[in-house]
Amino acid sequence: MAITDLLDAALDRSVVLGYTSLGSRLRRRWWPADPAPGSLAGKRVLVTGATSGIGEAMAGSFARLGATVHVLGRNADKLAGVARELRLEHPNATIVEEVCDVGDLDAVRDWGEAFADRVPGLDGLVHNAGTMTDTRTESPQGHELQLAVHVLGPHLMTELLLPALTAARGIVVWMSTGGMYGAALPDGEDAIEYRDGTYRGVSAYARTKRMQVVLADAWARRYDGTDVRVESMHPGWVETPGVATHLPRFRSLTRPLLRTAEDGADTAVWLVATRPPSEPGHLWHDRAQRPTTFGWQRDQDPAAVARFLDYVAISTETPPDWD
Ligand SMILES: NC(=O)c1ccc[n+]([C@@H]2O[C@H](COP(=O)([O-])OP(=O)(O)OC[C@H]3O[C@@H](n4cnc5c(N)ncnc54)[C@H](OP(=O)(O)O)[C@@H]3O)[C@@H](O)[C@H]2O)c1
Repeated sequence: MAITDLLDAALDRSVVLGYTSLGSRLRRRWWPADPAPGSLAGKRVLVTGATSGIGEAMAGSFARLGATVHVLGRNADKLAGVARELRLEHPNATIVEEVCDVGDLDAVRDWGEAFADRVPGLDGLVHNAGTMTDTRTESPQGHELQLAVHVLGPHLMTELLLPALTAARGIVVWMSTGGMYGAALPDGEDAIEYRDGTYRGVSAYARTKRMQVVLADAWARRYDGTDVRVESMHPGWVETPGVATHLPRFRSLTRPLLRTAEDGADTAVWLVATRPPSEPGHLWHDRAQRPTTFGWQRDQDPAAVARFLDYVAISTETPPDWD
């Protein structure tokens, strides 16, 4: 094993060193090459949660590489402002505004069907939209809100956009968090929906982010051998409006070491632009594959994974085609 592999793994296990800007500053010395300038010319990419933080920065990075960027947000006015800024900064890029609340399954279905009708091919889809609610809140369909925004809405969107992704040999990237390492996959509907009275915003966040990693891996297995790729990633600790709003104490403790939003977006952009080979697990951070669990954590119970995947399919009225 190369010395840089050992150093990279040590950074990852130390958490603080790996997840902060120190991690990317060091790894930049040995990680794979940047995508070539113009490498996304003629390609089409969709970024959810593009009105703030990592998603907004990611849209800019995709535009810089020449992609047509579909920026998706739930607030049309905020989205128009972000799109205006992106067009000013990248005058040669095509920026397309997409309004949809990804936590509302009816809205996702309406928007997704219309998108599939008007867009024949999609090269990249990044499920980046994220939220955190302090008290248990429900989506319009009665699902716990973080579950709806992080898992059910993106799953339905992926399903609806599959023809466009297949046509373009597209790649889907799920934006998870390193915080999911501390969360096990909940087992059973009541636990998945947090109907057991134990709701805490931060743990619900970590659990739904664990679900994203499990779901991305299941999608990757389902589409193994086809041209569609599915990966998940985590961005490290990043200075964004979301962190300022939801984690103010964490932010004040770590602020000098937080990554920039562009740094947090880097691995998603690199994955879409370069489509590197990938192994089961399919979780990435700083342009390298990472374990989905560590030794001291409980391995995922395959039966609980199967029950979770079935619940996702039933809740979104999508085919339960898992192996
Ligand atoms: N920052 C970090 O350190 C960090 C670490 C690990 C993982 N992440 C992940 O990275 C992603 C981006 O986070 P961020 O820090 O950039 O947060 P942010 O600044 O709060 O941005 C979140 C984005 O998601 C959008 N969004 C939220 N709910 C939505 C919904 N129902 N429908 C459509 N869009 C919705 C927000 O829209 P509005 O503008 O309308 O609110 C915003 O554009 C999230 O998935 C987060 O979990 C971040």
